[in-house]
Amino acid sequence: MARRLAVWLAAAALAGCATPASKPERGALAAAPALDPSAQRGHDLAARRCAGCHEIGEDDGGAAEGPAFRTLARRYNSLSLRGRFAEISAHGFDRMPPISFSKSEADDLTAYLGTLHAP
Ligand code: HEC
Repeated sequence: MARRLAVWLAAAALAGCATPASKPERGALAAAPALDPSAQRGHDLAARRCAGCHEIGEDDGGAAEGPAFRTLARRYNSLSLRGRFAEISAHGFDRMPPISFSKSEADDLTAYLGTLHAP
């Protein structure tokens, strides 16, 4: 009986030790969370149409002609982002040419930017 308890305690201690080791794995998963469908569409749209000039991910070392999307995510809240997207879609912005996208595409982009967290 006592021996069985000792085995159980040893197993519990091992399990305790294993926990910190498994943390990085969980962190890696958290870095790439499943996106909700709207954010996923926004991501795909960004990858197709914006990634040529913008870094669209957390840190993907992509094109850097325009500001990184994670910077925009920090600069604007979702309401003002929608406004910026509508404006940009119609007129472009300074060095950025107009790239038209629909209102629902702008919503998807906004949802996607909402998933980016500035460092
Ligand atoms: C041809 C290159 C190019 C493409 C493609 C492009 N952008 Fe840009 N974008 C720029 C540049 C350059 C700037 C910075 C403009 C400046 O500050 O002069 C910019 C700035 C912006 C800004 C910031 C505006 C502000 O208020 O500061 C937003 C938002 C933006 N782009 C969204 C998008 C989205 C969304 C897409 C894809 C649908 C996209 N861009 C595709 C070049 C591009």
